[in-house]
Amino acid sequence: MAEAPRFQAPTGTFDVLPPASARWQELLARFAGVVGGAGYGLVINPLFEDVGVFLRGIGEGSDVVTKEMYEFVDKGDRRLALRPEGTASVVRAFVQHRPPVPFKAWYATPAFRYERPQAGRYRQHHQLGIEALGSEDPDLDVEVVALGHDFYRSLGLQQVTVKLNSMGDRDCLPAYRTALAGYLEARAGDLCAEHREKWRANPLRVLDCKKPECRAATADAPKTVDLLCEPCRKHFERVRTGLDDIGIAPVLDFRLVRGFDYYTRTTFEFVAEALSSAQNAIGGGGRYDGLVESLGGPATPGIGFGMGIERLLLACDAEGVMAAPAAQVDVFVVDVTGGAQALSLTTELRRAGVRTDRAFDGRSMKAQLRAADRSGAAVAVIIGEDEVTAGTAVVKAMSGGARQQAVARAEVVSTVRGLLTGSAGIEEFDGEGTA
Ligand code: HAM
Repeated sequence: MAEAPRFQAPTGTFDVLPPASARWQELLARFAGVVGGAGYGLVINPLFEDVGVFLRGIGEGSDVVTKEMYEFVDKGDRRLALRPEGTASVVRAFVQHRPPVPFKAWYATPAFRYERPQAGRYRQHHQLGIEALGSEDPDLDVEVVALGHDFYRSLGLQQVTVKLNSMGDRDCLPAYRTALAGYLEARAGDLCAEHREKWRANPLRVLDCKKPECRAATADAPKTVDLLCEPCRKHFERVRTGLDDIGIAPVLDFRLVRGFDYYTRTTFEFVAEALSSAQNAIGGGGRYDGLVESLGGPATPGIGFGMGIERLLLACDAEGVMAAPAAQVDVFVVDVTGGAQALSLTTELRRAGVRTDRAFDGRSMKAQLRAADRSGAAVAVIIGEDEVTAGTAVVKAMSGGARQQAVARAEVVSTVRGLLTGSAGIEEFDGEGTA
C-alpha cells in the first residue's frame, strides 16, 4: 500500500478535483444565470477582513463569531479574520463604496468556521448567495426567497421545504427577548448544559439549540410572530401573501431565529427533506435592516441568503438529480506521428471554437484511443503516417458503431463542426479509413 502523503488537506477541508468539479462549475453557472437574470451582479470581496467587520456585523452573541472564527494577526499587526460568511463583507463593501440602491449582488465564496467536522459540516465550506440592499419592500423578501426556491427547482430538487419566520425589528424584538427570558427563567434547570449557563446572555440562541433538552423546554415558548409590532406584522403578512401568490407555501417555524445577531423581520431556511437533520439546512437567510448602520453606513435595509454548495450537492445526490455534466471536450486528436500534427490540429480546432483535447508524450495508438474514450469526446480525429502522406485525417465517431471517414486535412475543422452540430450525420460516412 502506498504511504500516506506527508501533507494532506487540513481537517474539515477537502479538495475538489476534475471530473467532480465539473458539477461545481455547472452549479455556479446555473446560479449566475438565475440570479443574474433577476438583476443581481457579481461581487468579489477579500476572503479576510478586519475582525471588527464580523464582531460588529454578525455580533458577539453568535457561536460563529465567539467560537468558530479563524482570527489572526498579520505582519503589520492588524487583527484580521477569514470570512465565516458572505453578508458582513458585502455590507462592509457597500458602506465603503456607496453604490446606488437598490444594490443587488451575488457571490460564490468559501467560508471558514472552526466547527466539528462531519458529513455536510466543514471548516471551509462554500456558499452561493445574494444580498439586496436599499429597500424594505416586503416584495423584495418574496423575490429573494423565490430566487432560492426556484434555483433549487431548476436543479430538479423536489423535496425542499421553505421555513419562514419573522424576528421583528428594533421596536418589538427587545420586548420579545424579555418575554422569552421570562419564560426561560422558570425552566433554566431543564436546558442543556451550555444554555443552563448562558441563556440569559442571549435567550434567542436557546430557541435554535438542537439539543433535545432545549427543544423540549422551549416547545411552548412565546413566538416572535405573536409579539410583532404593527409595521412588522403587516410586513410579514405581505411576505406570506406574496409567496402564496407565486405558488410557494412556506412552513412557519417559530424557532427560526438563525444564528447571527443581525437578523430583523423575515428569516427563512431551505430544508432538504432527503437529508438527515444534522445537514439538511441547504440554505438560509433573512432581513438585516440594521446591519449597514452597525458597520458605519446610513440606515439602509437589506436582505439575502447563503446556500452551502456541499450540502446542496448532497441533496442532489439524495434525490438523484444534477448528474455530472457531460464531457468537457467534443474532440480528441490522436496523432501517432510524433505530435506535430496534434499540435496544429488542436490549435485549429480550438481557434474555431471546438472543445478539443489530445494526448502527449508520443503514446501508442491504443493508449491514445483509450484516452480519447475516457475524455468523453464525441469525435476522434486520427492521424498516422499514411494520413500525413495522403494529406488527410480520419474523423471517427466515438459512439454509434464507431463509423469513420478519411477527409482532406483542410476539411477536418468543417467536417468536425458539421458532425457536432448534427448538420452532417456520421452515418453518411462509408467506413473507409486507416484507424
Ligand atoms: P448560514 O445559515 O450560516 O447563513 O449559512 C448558509 C448556508 O451555508 C447554510 O444553510 C448551509 O447550507 C451552509 N453552511 C453553513 N455552515 C456550514 C458548514 N460548516 N459546512 C457546510 N455548509 C455550511 C449565512 O452564512 C448568512 N450569511 C446567510 C445570509 C445571507 N443571510 C442574509 N444574507
